[in-house]
Amino acid sequence: MGKNHLQCRECKKEYEPTFKYICDECFGPLDVKYDFPSVNKDTFRDREKTYWRYFELLPIIDKKNIVSIEAGMTPLVKAEKLGKELGLNNLYIKNDSVNPTFSFKDRPAGVAISKAKEFGLESVGCASTGNLASATAAHAAKANMPCYIFAPSNIETAKIAQALSYGAEYISVDGTYDEANRIAAQIGDRKGVGVVNINMRSYYVEGSKTLAYEVAEQLDWNVPNHLIVPTGSGAMLNAICKGFEELQSVSLLDDLSSMHMHCAQPQGCAPIVDAFDKNVDKVTAVEQPNTVAKSLAIGDPGDGRYVLKRLKQYNGVAKQTNDKEILDAILLLAKTEGIFTEPAGGVSVSVLKKMVEEGKIDKDEPTVCYVTGNGLKATESIMTVLKKPQVMQADVAKISAVIG
Ligand SMILES: Cc1ncc(COP(=O)(O)O)c(C=O)c1O
Ligand SMILES: [Zn+2]
Repeated sequence: MGKNHLQCRECKKEYEPTFKYICDECFGPLDVKYDFPSVNKDTFRDREKTYWRYFELLPIIDKKNIVSIEAGMTPLVKAEKLGKELGLNNLYIKNDSVNPTFSFKDRPAGVAISKAKEFGLESVGCASTGNLASATAAHAAKANMPCYIFAPSNIETAKIAQALSYGAEYISVDGTYDEANRIAAQIGDRKGVGVVNINMRSYYVEGSKTLAYEVAEQLDWNVPNHLIVPTGSGAMLNAICKGFEELQSVSLLDDLSSMHMHCAQPQGCAPIVDAFDKNVDKVTAVEQPNTVAKSLAIGDPGDGRYVLKRLKQYNGVAKQTNDKEILDAILLLAKTEGIFTEPAGGVSVSVLKKMVEEGKIDKDEPTVCYVTGNGLKATESIMTVLKKPQVMQADVAKISAVIG
């Protein structure tokens, strides 16, 4: 079948790698499976500092179809100061807030749009809680493709300004993310649009798995003991697990038995945490999410039940955190590591803190906390916990009197 094929996650039926994302037999989601090439540590060593360095493990056949805005290979920061504050000796922050559009979404959007180009699709789009909008619009601009964004109307202004600047057709939906998602699915089908997180989802998640590849490579091909992942739809968490498993399949990692995968959600939209706490397999949708972490406000997470399976498989937990804790965690990360994140990153840092306090992470265990979006995208909510500087006359004497 060539470099890769599609396989149903449920019934395992295999398909040619076409523009298709749901199994004909059981309606299960389709995943990309590779006829694994022989790769080793040297294969990637001197490659470009983007996630396209892992080309052999990505679903694009012809390199000329790659649409790249140079995303990925973001810093894995040894967080000495935050670690000390929390009581951890081996804490790392995967700082994906410094991607070209300032969130991890450049990974899935870039792979999905490259594949849309390979399929010969004429337009792309997405349903978004904010970050995917910009990632999709920027890659579409680079690829010279029309782009349709469907997003709830209540997201942060910076995210709207950013997506509009890249030239996307922006549909601001008076409703929740789930409603915007339904509209995007219907319009995508009707107009043949490659909707990156819906009808291109099988390829989209392939971008997110590079968050596992990079962490493993940055740790010199080792697996951390704990990973904390901020979760909305659950696509990223699932993809990170797939990434580590693939590295094991190509013998770049040996053993995943020491890896614990944890899911972090905001209290105002924590359907996966609710199911985890009740120990049930079914995720019940949150009708009206209400959280400062707007990028995680996905009431009906498409991959929710697969996240629950992953937590069981990798001995992890799901935990929630409230708005105040999220905003406090943003400031804690900024003040200790100089990393400014949006609330989604505050969710993972806050959940990390709780897990350490509850004794779930031993002080020497290598731990990676994913920080997936940039604080500049959510200044209106972050300002609510900061003291607005008073405007002062440009007078040395008066200012000296105040600062001492
Ligand atoms: C910054 C950020 N972090 C995390 C997520 C969660 O990703 P997923 O929906 O794949 O769970 C999102 C988007 O949904 C996001 O924008
Ligand atoms: Zn199936």
